[in-house]
Amino acid sequence: MAPAAGSTQAAARSGIAGGAGGRIALVAGGSGLVGSALLPLLLEAPEYARVQALSRRPLPLEHARLANRVVRFDAPLSLQLKGLTCHEAFCCLGTTRRAAGGEAGFRAVDHDLVMTFARFALAAGAERFVLVSAVGANAQSRNFYLRTKGETEQDLQQLGLRSLDILQPSLLLGVRREWRSLELAAQLAIRAIGPLLLGRLAPWRPIEAHTVAAAMRGAARSGRRGVVRYGYTEICRLAQLSRRAVP
Ligand SMILES: NC(=O)c1ccc[n+]([C@@H]2O[C@H](COP(=O)([O-])OP(=O)(O)OC[C@H]3O[C@@H](n4cnc5c(N)ncnc54)[C@H](OP(=O)(O)O)[C@@H]3O)[C@@H](O)[C@H]2O)c1
Repeated sequence: MAPAAGSTQAAARSGIAGGAGGRIALVAGGSGLVGSALLPLLLEAPEYARVQALSRRPLPLEHARLANRVVRFDAPLSLQLKGLTCHEAFCCLGTTRRAAGGEAGFRAVDHDLVMTFARFALAAGAERFVLVSAVGANAQSRNFYLRTKGETEQDLQQLGLRSLDILQPSLLLGVRREWRSLELAAQLAIRAIGPLLLGRLAPWRPIEAHTVAAAMRGAARSGRRGVVRYGYTEICRLAQLSRRAVP
């Protein structure tokens, strides 16, 4: 149903795209730190009638609007998810070199799996793809992690998505199921110095994972078209947009 003119004008004033309701969100990485913060936000969002969450293991979450699709990411998603359609896709996939057993394993997730998911989302009708990348992502970087993230961003741009939102957070803060010892130490130290990172260093401020999750929803609500990158400050702004009531 088309939104009433009044609601469209109110939506324009608030910065929230109008025409909400009855939408389908597609999520990958819903068991991770950002993904597990994102799912409840999407499930409570009035704009989504259904949230399709792809995972390799069942998610510890039940909700009337959640469809958890346990899939094999190394087999064609189109065959496993026949008939699935979506409006927006949210990608929180990622790993570490350590967890993946080295650089090849890391790239297989942070590049290849993301691309597989994006291609599937596009074929399923996604008008928007929202990605959690990383600050400093750069396809020309000499740093393997940043180069991989940059190449993923670059290759996503080639897919011709109508809207591609790339969030580039620095260190994510939050409680993990399995603590990574280096991250824990870094979190403690960097929480203290975060506020001191000003000016050109501001994009490197650590950020709560739930703020990034809220920003992902905010990106979808913004209605912006094309490729948009969001650093620390813009992620915080988008998170505010997510929290505003739909007019
Ligand atoms: N950690 C940081 O400080 C930081 C900073 C900047 C950017 N980032 C980026 O932000 C994104 C989200 O980070 P996060 O910390 O929320 O990630 P996370 O907690 O490690 O979660 C990663 C998600 O990816 C899934 N995944 C990993 N390998 C997979 C595989 N082989 N097949 C299927 N699913 C797989 C995980 O599923 P399972 O639960 O099944 O493993 C999980 O749902 C990542 O791209 C990360 O690189 C992180």
